[in-house]
Amino acid sequence: MTDPAALRRRYARGHLDDEAVADAWFPQLLAWFDEAVADPAVVEANAVQWATVSPEGRPAVRTVLIKGLDERGIVVYSNYESAKGRDLAAHPYAAAVLVWHAHERQVRLTGDVEQVSRAETEAYFASRPRESQLGAWASPQSQVVESRAALDALVEQAEAQFAAGPIPAPPHWGGYRLVPDAVEFWQGRPGRVHDRIRFRLTDGTWLRERLAP
Ligand SMILES: Cc1cc2nc3c(=O)[nH]c(=O)nc-3n(C[C@H](O)[C@H](O)[C@H](O)COP(=O)(O)O)c2cc1C
Repeated sequence: MTDPAALRRRYARGHLDDEAVADAWFPQLLAWFDEAVADPAVVEANAVQWATVSPEGRPAVRTVLIKGLDERGIVVYSNYESAKGRDLAAHPYAAAVLVWHAHERQVRLTGDVEQVSRAETEAYFASRPRESQLGAWASPQSQVVESRAALDALVEQAEAQFAAGPIPAPPHWGGYRLVPDAVEFWQGRPGRVHDRIRFRLTDGTWLRERLAP
């Protein structure tokens, strides 16, 4: 086995100078996101690790895909009755992290989570491939299923239910928007003396701070 302690990378791809950072979290995230999307070395630039807290106070984290990004926050889509859905119903807050290893960059966000409007969910759902639409109807996300065959049978049932007609968004499925109260940009630097710039909302005003790495 490879000794994980022997794995070492020197981060020297870039730096985050105070004068180069945008004056707000959104344009800065957009700039980094666009660079990530444009680079074929970055796989699934919109993948984000999304952490929630269960009703019992236990954290959980999973990967989801960002499907909306604007000044209001980041939007992901999921099953409202999933484990994360139950967590968010009890504690409507999340922490999220994007990491673009090829760029030696990380962005962390925290904030309140709200469901997006039904119109927004329906518009996004309509843009999905039909097989993904069927999957959203068929999968009781986070529940135990008896077997792969049982899951495939649920997909077949959904196929039969909708035949060739249009597929509406399931009522138990939709978007979540993380409305940030803090967004931190991290750029790896040599000697582990990384750059960290955090935008933080305090009393209605966004502060910009540099953090020690
Ligand atoms: C690359 C990747 C993208 C994913 N995108 C989504 C997504 O957009 N929405 C979603 O509900 N689950 C997505 N998943 C699956 C989740 O990680 C997770 O397995 C699922 O949402 C159930 O999580 P939960 O049981 O904590 O609710 C993705 C997984 C990976 C690895």
